[in-house]
Amino acid sequence: MNKLTFLSFIILLVVPLRSADKDSPDKFKIAAKLEDFEVEEEGDDNFFELSDFPSWESDQGNKILVNVDGFGAVGDGVADDTQAFVSAWKQACSVPKSVFMVPGGRRYLVNATRFRGPCADNLVIQIEGTIVAPNEPTNWDPKNPNIWLGFYNISKVLFHGNGVIDGSGSKWWAASCKKNKTNRCKGAPAALTIDSSSSIRVKGLTIQNSQQMNFVIGRSDSVRVTDVKVSCPGDSPNTDGIHITESTNVVLQNCKIGTGDDCISIVNASSGIKMKNIYCGPGHGISIGSLGKNNSTGIVEKIVVDNAFLRDTTNGLRIKTWQGGSGYVRLVRYQDVRMDNVSNPIIIDQFYCDSPISCQNQTSAVEISQIMYRNIIGTSRSQRAMKFACSDTVPCTHIVLNNINLQSRDGTVETYCNSAAGFGYGYIQPSAECLSSSQKDIIQEKEADILTTTEHIIHTEL
Ligand SMILES: *[C@@H]1O[C@H](CO)[C@@H](O)[C@H](O)[C@H]1NC(C)=O
Ligand SMILES: *[C@@H]1O[C@H](CO)[C@@H](O)[C@H](O)[C@H]1NC(C)=O
Ligand SMILES: *[C@@H]1O[C@H](CO)[C@@H](O)[C@H](O)[C@H]1NC(C)=O
Ligand SMILES: *[C@@H]1O[C@H](CO)[C@@H](O)[C@H](O)[C@H]1NC(C)=O
Ligand SMILES: *[C@@H]1O[C@H](CO)[C@@H](O)[C@H](O)[C@H]1NC(C)=O
Ligand SMILES: *[C@@H]1O[C@H](CO)[C@@H](O)[C@H](O)[C@H]1NC(C)=O
Ligand SMILES: *[C@@H]1O[C@H](CO)[C@@H](O)[C@H](O)[C@H]1NC(C)=O
Ligand SMILES: *[C@@H]1O[C@H](CO)[C@@H](O)[C@H](O)[C@H]1NC(C)=O
Repeated sequence: MNKLTFLSFIILLVVPLRSADKDSPDKFKIAAKLEDFEVEEEGDDNFFELSDFPSWESDQGNKILVNVDGFGAVGDGVADDTQAFVSAWKQACSVPKSVFMVPGGRRYLVNATRFRGPCADNLVIQIEGTIVAPNEPTNWDPKNPNIWLGFYNISKVLFHGNGVIDGSGSKWWAASCKKNKTNRCKGAPAALTIDSSSSIRVKGLTIQNSQQMNFVIGRSDSVRVTDVKVSCPGDSPNTDGIHITESTNVVLQNCKIGTGDDCISIVNASSGIKMKNIYCGPGHGISIGSLGKNNSTGIVEKIVVDNAFLRDTTNGLRIKTWQGGSGYVRLVRYQDVRMDNVSNPIIIDQFYCDSPISCQNQTSAVEISQIMYRNIIGTSRSQRAMKFACSDTVPCTHIVLNNINLQSRDGTVETYCNSAAGFGYGYIQPSAECLSSSQKDIIQEKEADILTTTEHIIHTEL
């Protein structure tokens, strides 16, 4: 279909709805807002001008090479190279235009380490070899229970290279309470953490077999991650791919993630997050949350997923919140997403409970509104291809669907709603009549206990 016929096709769909629906002007405003809002990609890449990227093998330009081998690193995967990394960091961080270099073709065994800034300007961290963690949880440094390689308080730093960060997580996974119910639930290190930092670029690295989360971006602003690969077995517990917390203006682009938990998870105090060209699978999908655990406040807004492919995952696009929380998730757009064999392709779950004891329903909840799903196609492994399970006391509002085509390989699919208000336009499969068009309607329906939905639904099938 060319652009013009597509446009007239949209107008054909939309015009009759407009006249049929008395509160449609509001809907058009909401739909237009959700279609159009942008997450700015900061244009301050200039601190890594192309001239800052000589071809590393031949020309180091005006860079100062700080090679871990020069500080006594052995790189045989057996000798403890922690001290060499710490000394090289001290040097690289203190001299402008340094390249902290982990050369290729070797394995460096490094303990839990905090690399702290602030550093002198124009630091580049280049990882070509493999950095591997000690594989024995019982010897892990008790002072760093949640980190392996942690970078703190750095600004305008580029991480790049074809290297690998390998958490050697298998013994940690076996000891997890998710694997063996008799074990106590406790944290485990994240392979790579960037915390309290700004203007960070991460390009081309592979992060694998993390003890728990693979890559954590915390308390940071302006972070761009491109061409990063994350790889863990599909049954490794709590191994989120990229976890974003208390961070703003983050772009994840061209990332391929296969893991045992969420491919991407975005939690509290995060906004302005854009994900482009993401492959996810295996894994638990692209998640906002969980939020609101233990009656806490969770706030996430301005999130865009643009072009993603999820295959063999347990969820697709998920928002998960615990009962009893407060705060909100709003202004989210998922667009151009393909699913293949995904169990819950589209899911909002306000009854999330990842706890051994069952969770009681409560009156407060993290409020969810202004969520758009646009051009979402593919196959669902479960019957409920779309599930909007929202709190009775804090319903979801302004859920907007546009051009959805989710099918089952065998059998039918359906949409489930509880206290979810919104509307759809364009082709919607499975149909979503259960999205009542306003919160008022939800309350009326509850009171009258009748299900008259069709008259206030925008729903058109072709
Ligand atoms: C690394 O950890 C091991 C086990 O805890 C310890 O024996 C060793 O001294 C640590 N290495 C450094 C350089 O701290
Ligand atoms: C971070 O760096 C700033 C200077 O840029 C310094 O004032 C601050 O104390 C540092 N914070 C931490 C937690 O190290
Ligand atoms: C679970 O862990 C306990 C001790 O932590 C151990 O005795 C038991 O063999 C483990 N079970 C399995 C199935 O690995
Ligand atoms: C979430 O972020 C908000 C605002 O930054 C903060 O007030 C709240 O304490 C945070 N909640 C948790 C659980 O950390
Ligand atoms: C959360 O608050 C509710 C209502 O005040 C209370 O009943 C519940 O015990 C609290 N939950 C937790 C985990 O503190
Ligand atoms: C829940 O929050 C309360 C108050 O912030 C805290 O004392 C308690 O330890 C938390 N419980 C859990 C299980 O995190
Ligand atoms: C669908 O995904 C499940 C779970 O990941 C997997 O076991 C199954 O083989 C997949 N089916 C197909 C047809 O790919
Ligand atoms: C909580 O509320 C939902 C929606 O009304 C309901 O489906 C679910 O069974 C309730 N859960 C509990 C534990 O009462």
